[in-house]
This record gives sequence, C-alpha cells and structure tokens, in this order.
Amino acid sequence: MIESDNKPARKLAELGVSQPDQVPPLFAELRTRFDADSAAANDQPSWKQFRDAWLGRKSGVLTLVTDNWLKPSTPDLKRAVGAALNELRAHVESQIEARRASIESTAEQSASASERVDLSLPGVTRPIGSHHLIRQVLQQVEDIFVSIGFSVVEGPEIETPYYNFEALNIPEFHPVRDDMDTFYLDLPTGAATPLLLRTHTSPVQIRTMEKRQPPVRVIVPGKVYRRDNPDATHSFIFHQVEGLAVDTDITFCDFTGTIEYFVKQFFGAAVKTRFRPSYFPFTEPSVEFDVSCIFCGGSGTVAGGGTCSKCKGAGWIELFGAGMVDPAVYGFVNYDPKKVSGFAFGMGIDRLAMLKYGIDDIQVFFQSDVRFLRQFP
Ligand code: FA5
Repeated sequence: MIESDNKPARKLAELGVSQPDQVPPLFAELRTRFDADSAAANDQPSWKQFRDAWLGRKSGVLTLVTDNWLKPSTPDLKRAVGAALNELRAHVESQIEARRASIESTAEQSASASERVDLSLPGVTRPIGSHHLIRQVLQQVEDIFVSIGFSVVEGPEIETPYYNFEALNIPEFHPVRDDMDTFYLDLPTGAATPLLLRTHTSPVQIRTMEKRQPPVRVIVPGKVYRRDNPDATHSFIFHQVEGLAVDTDITFCDFTGTIEYFVKQFFGAAVKTRFRPSYFPFTEPSVEFDVSCIFCGGSGTVAGGGTCSKCKGAGWIELFGAGMVDPAVYGFVNYDPKKVSGFAFGMGIDRLAMLKYGIDDIQVFFQSDVRFLRQFP
C-alpha cells in the first residue's frame, strides 16, 4: 500500500511544494490512493492491514503527513496543509469504519447462510431404550417382596471360597461343590485366599447375618456364574434372587405362606404350588418348589391331546430350591441356633422369566438381539 515513492515519507520541500495552491493536488492524489486501498480491503485481515497503513500511530500515512508535511511547513503552507489534512482525516476515518461494518455484515450473512437450519429435513429419530426383560423380572420380584417387608441387599460377585462354600456348610471336597464348579481368578502367587466368581447369591446370606442381628428379612438380586455348558436352560452367567428371613419364631408355615404368596402374585392366582424334598447343605429340611405348568394349566397335555412340551407331561415345573436355614450356618455368624430360626430360598431369575413369558431358550437373554429385546418394551 505504501509505495517506495511514498510522498508522505518525504518533506514538502523535497517534493518541490512551496505554494498553498500546490497542496490540494497532493491531497487529491493521496485520497485516490486511499480509495483504491479501501476497495481492496475485503476481509478482516486485509482490513486491519489497511487501517494500520493509514491510521497507524507510528508510520501510518496520516501520521507521516502530520510529521513531514504539516509540522515543518511555513505558516502559509501550514494553513492549506492543515485544512486539507483535516478533510482527508475525516474521509479516512469514516471510510475505514464503513468498510469494517460492510466486511462484518458480509461475513455474518455468509455464516448464517451456511448454518441455516433446513426445517424441511426429516427429524432425527432417537429410539428410546427399555429395560432388559431380566431387569424387568428382577424388578417385579423385588416389588413383591418389598411389599411384604423384605429389603433389598447386594453382595460382591467375586467371592472367597469361605463365603461361597464353607460358611454355607459346604466344606472342601463336599460333593455339592461339583455341581457348582466355577471360574477362579488368576491371582499372584502367595495371595491370601483364592477368589472365585460366586456360584449363587447365598454367600450374601452370610454377609448379611454377619452385619445384622435378627430379625432379618432380605432379598438379594444379582448375577452368578457356573462352569455349565450352555444349552436351552443353562448359561454360565445367570441371575438369582436369594431370600432370607431369620427371627425368633419363624416356622415352616411362614416359609410356605411367603413363597405361595410370591408365586401367586408373580404368575397369577390360578397356579398351584407344591414342595418336594430336596437337599442343600445350608438348609434343613430342604425343598424344591414346583408350580403347576402355566402352559398346559397343570394337565400335562395340550389342546388336541399331545404332551405339553414345557413340563414334558408332568403338569409341574420346578421353580427353585429353598428350606429352613440349617442350624450349622448360624454357627458361622454367631447367631444362637436355639433362639433363632428362619428360611431361605434361591430362585433362578432367567428360568422364572422363561416360564412367565414362554421363552424356550435362555441364550436369548445374553445375545442382545434387538428383535428379541423389542418384544418386551
Ligand atoms: C442354589 O443355587 C441355592 N443357592 C439355592 C438355595 C438358596 C437353596 C437358599 C436353599 C436356600 P441351585 O443350584 O438349585 O441352588 O440353583 C438355583 C436356581 O438357579 C435353579 O433352580 C435354576 O433356576 C437356576 N440355575 C442353576 N444353574 C443354572 C444355569 N446354569 N443357568 C441358568 N439358571 C440356572
């Protein structure tokens, strides 16, 4: 912008100007140069350069004109230079401001054009998720037990053999451990105790009784693990809800009443229930709890005379194991078996969900197939 023959950089005498009438053409020339610079400044960076070239304090054109033309002039010339300089300054300042405003509004227009929202575009659909069926069933079970005075507690999925087995009256080498083979963690040599993925929620019975004195009424929902080969009814990870009630006078009748109440709430009033003798080292007596088949109504046959495939003609479906807490277990938690009694149960939630919703393969719970998940919004 400031050329090498930049006249404002030289004194008027050097330019051969000595008479007032020589001043206006000099300023006219400057103004033409200014207008050309102004037209060329069409974005923010070039505008800044343009402004500094003309208004810069140290070496802007107007400063040079003041220093080199005005200040050293004779009084005669000074009047002409002063008047012309004032006029030029007013033009320069107003033009520079006008140019800035024009560049800014152009920039804003092009930004808003590129950012404009096209209201005619179709909206973005964000599907709303839902709880997994297992989570829904866990919630149903929790709601029923909470409504009759149980509270919900949780425990660790990584357990010690003590809580998973020994304190539940399952000593090392007890044959029941074979049915509950599980996954052991790789620990550094010299670790104080082996660690395993719990095979059932029953260890939380022990953890709860260690912390609380009777009366205890809890349910324990959670994930459990076993080294079972996957098939239609077995998974190596599944869910259980443990139940435990201990107080000074709990009888087998309290136990059956509680369980029957739960089953009728969960499956409906029409289901029938029955207990069969069973065995768990931590309950005595132990039972398996069956419900009448909800698919064939307990008849064992389906419409048309065939055998019900769900209960295989038995009319009953096994639901879960339970029993009165074995007095030996109280010894591990410093409860006095002469003073307290109680019952415990452990239900497989995945199988409960399969029964209630007519699902014939447990694996679908773990495959995250949305076609399955969407059926249970
Ligand atoms: C137990 O786990 C005992 N802790 C239950 C118990 C608690 C008894 C308190 C007495 C007192 P069992 O091994 O039978 O018991 O398992 C309980 C339920 O878990 C079974 O009825 C079944 O529904 C479910 N289950 C067991 N193994 C699997 C598996 N591999 N996949 C899916 N569900 C399973």
